[in-house]
Amino acid sequence: MLQFKLVLLGDSSVGKSSIVNRFVKDSFDEFRESTIGAAFLSQTVTINDNDSDVAQEITVKFEIWDTAGQERYKSLAPMYYRNANAALVVYDITQADSLEKARSWVQELKNKVDDDSLVIYLVGNKIDLVSNNNDDQDKRAVERSVAETYAEENNLLFSEVSAKTGEGIKQVFQSIAENLYQI
Ligand code: GTP
Ligand code: MG
Repeated sequence: MLQFKLVLLGDSSVGKSSIVNRFVKDSFDEFRESTIGAAFLSQTVTINDNDSDVAQEITVKFEIWDTAGQERYKSLAPMYYRNANAALVVYDITQADSLEKARSWVQELKNKVDDDSLVIYLVGNKIDLVSNNNDDQDKRAVERSVAETYAEENNLLFSEVSAKTGEGIKQVFQSIAENLYQI
């Protein structure tokens, strides 16, 4: 079994804990309390090793550090991203400021983590709040193409998800596992 350390970073209330909760417990809490310090959880995924002669499934265990986004905890973050194999940098697609915060986390990771094998995944959360057929209800504040272009330019993996409905959550962790396995 492979074991990887993963850290979540991003502004307060973007949904970091909700993403982890969806992935680990497959549940969602409408009134989740803001994280204090950090929370530790773990979960496994299985990937297929297609390169070997005999097809085999590999179990990948994630040790997950869900950090607190509130400003007063910012100085704790290096403890959690140090030695991390992967970082999920999360923003809320309905809050433009949260993408700016995400960019500054990406910059900090690139400056402080001198490890080219760190996989950084930019995640736009809360796509359930976006309606395709009613402009009045559309709360989107960050265009998908803007975040996607930024991610491409900075070599980040990228997707939009919803911790509330579960859309895209499993795939994020699955693709991190596959990426880390190839490194
Ligand atoms: P900190 O712990 O303060 O850093 O915040 P956080 O990033 O962990 O956010 P948290 O998961 O606590 O979610 C904040 C609020 O957003 C909660 O009320 C959640 O119910 C809500 N929320 C999280 N994910 C989603 C989502 O995908 N869709 C919607 N509609 N609401 C969400
Ligand atoms: Mg939290």
